[in-house]
Amino acid sequence: MPAVPRETEDSNASLASRNRKRELRFVICGSVDDGKSTLLGRLLHDSRTVVRDRSSALVTQNPILGPQGDAVDCAMPVDGPRAQGEQAVTIEAACRVFESDRRKFIAIDAGGHDQHTQDLVAGASNADLALLLVDVRKGILTETRRHSHIVSLMGVRQAILAVNKMDLVGYRQDLFSSIVDDYGALARELGIEQVHAVPISALTGENVFAGRNCAPWYDGPTLMESLEAVEIEADAEKGAFRLPVERVHRPKPELRGSSGTVASGRVEPGMPVVVSPSGETTAVERIFGPSGELESAVAGQSITLVLADEIDVSRGDMIAGTDRPPEVADQFAAHLIWMDARPMLPERSYLARFASASAVARVTDLTHRVDVDTLGRFAAKTLQRNEVGYCKMSLDRPVPFDSCSEVRRTGAFVLIDRLTNATAGAGTIGFALRRASNVPWQELKTDKAERARAIGQKPCVLWLTGLSGAGKSTIADRLEQKLRALGKHTYVLDGDNVRHGLNRDLGFTDRDRVENIRRVSEVAKLMVDAGLIVIVSFISPFRSEREMARKLMEKGEFFEIFVDTPLDVCEARDPKGLYVKARRGEIPNFTGIDSPYEAPDEPDLRIDTTRLSAEKAAESVVRLLRRAESSIRITDDP
Ligand code: ADX
Repeated sequence: MPAVPRETEDSNASLASRNRKRELRFVICGSVDDGKSTLLGRLLHDSRTVVRDRSSALVTQNPILGPQGDAVDCAMPVDGPRAQGEQAVTIEAACRVFESDRRKFIAIDAGGHDQHTQDLVAGASNADLALLLVDVRKGILTETRRHSHIVSLMGVRQAILAVNKMDLVGYRQDLFSSIVDDYGALARELGIEQVHAVPISALTGENVFAGRNCAPWYDGPTLMESLEAVEIEADAEKGAFRLPVERVHRPKPELRGSSGTVASGRVEPGMPVVVSPSGETTAVERIFGPSGELESAVAGQSITLVLADEIDVSRGDMIAGTDRPPEVADQFAAHLIWMDARPMLPERSYLARFASASAVARVTDLTHRVDVDTLGRFAAKTLQRNEVGYCKMSLDRPVPFDSCSEVRRTGAFVLIDRLTNATAGAGTIGFALRRASNVPWQELKTDKAERARAIGQKPCVLWLTGLSGAGKSTIADRLEQKLRALGKHTYVLDGDNVRHGLNRDLGFTDRDRVENIRRVSEVAKLMVDAGLIVIVSFISPFRSEREMARKLMEKGEFFEIFVDTPLDVCEARDPKGLYVKARRGEIPNFTGIDSPYEAPDEPDLRIDTTRLSAEKAAESVVRLLRRAESSIRITDDP
């Protein structure tokens, strides 16, 4: 679906003539008990027009979800069913659109409970402001702190504090003031720069649209006046120019254009620009909008840029002003909000989607977990759902991005689980890390093909996975003997053995197993580079990491072999006596007992050890190799 700018060209012109402000997107935080539904209902009901017919046309310009955006149903009744987003990257925040004489509003309802963190993250990433609703009788609750923390992490810097149910406390100024003071302290800590507080009664409408002087001590604007007054234009246009490129095409035969939605700043013909990550520079020649050529364009507009020089621009690149170019790096520090039921495991690879590009990403260090309720920092090894952490991340290639405090829309990203395609986490970037940028790749004259040719074989990885006691090591041992008998050059990487050296610092938590497999995959890759046939015999219980290992190798170099032995058979064999101990509770996190084993769905070969001897199993692997690679030139028929 094409991205739709916040306002079309026509509406830009007509709105300007009516001296209206740009539409305001705000995320509304608070629980039903605080009066959120009542307030939303009143805003919709009392506003001049409730726009109810844009449901299919409106596409949110969501900075963390990239230029594709996500469809959001904006015509839903208050408390109605939620919108269904696209499958991979889902935004489920429900929007309501309404307008006053001075401005159009999009209210994003962020839910009110823990499980709605994802809604809040999606909503906040898309909002100019947070409207925080507080019950005057309860004051600032943990929930308010959590909501404020998450919206601030997502880069929201302005808030309106609506202190509700003032009618129930006789409009007492002291109660209002003490809540405002409490919230002011929290906002300072969180970096929310502007907070405006209004004492309201959503039920009676006091200070929502008009003051009825129930609180004569309050002479500030009503809630609606505050919403109308919020300044957002300046911020968006003053920022550094960023155009994440969604499409490269030819608007006219002689013109080559780069299209996208301006994420920040302003652009006009003649402006010098840099294309990241290539770093090539040129100038803007012409700008096209949906209805013709433009003299300039600002944040939120969908445009096509024609550049002065025919330089290489691809989808996923970022075009930026040369005065303040983006960072281009493959490592950075970021805050990460975890939203998936499967915990975040450092070193597991995820797909990171930025405003412009996508890359494979890993959390290399989880520096600390932040308690969203108290803002305290705690040591942590993983992040569970709804937890926030500060971490270092590493990408498989350099990507253009910004610090979120510099440019919000290009300083955010989402992490997608590569197996389930679910949005697992959302992050905001602190700063680029240059740990490896002074370490260039050293080209060598001898390469893998030459090494392999010298020993007359096609290198590959034979990856044996299965429970402890399944028979992996025995099969690996036989297999190696057979391959050596055929004149092949081999090496067996065995889980137990590697854990005596390289991986002796690792235990059996999920996190350590992920790292265990990452390291052995890298070692296997080096051995394949050396020309060897590598037999890996590791439990390797997680699909994600086996998939990661496969992706590390070239096509046709990786064979997943499932040594399929049922748990009861492994336990009956118990060659190392470990199952007995595990059942006695002496070995925690034992695979198959209190730690999961995710069997391969589509292995290249499945070996049923209840029917096949180790000898026969090894023969079937050799046959697999013969079938897959005629170039391996195995002469003996096993
Ligand atoms: S993996 O899960 O990280 O791939 P790996 O193959 O390296 O495991 O090591 C498994 C071997 O460690 C088992 O064959 C067994 O001898 C031993 N072991 C010790 N503790 C455990 C445990 N908690 N779970 C599984 N295997 C264990």
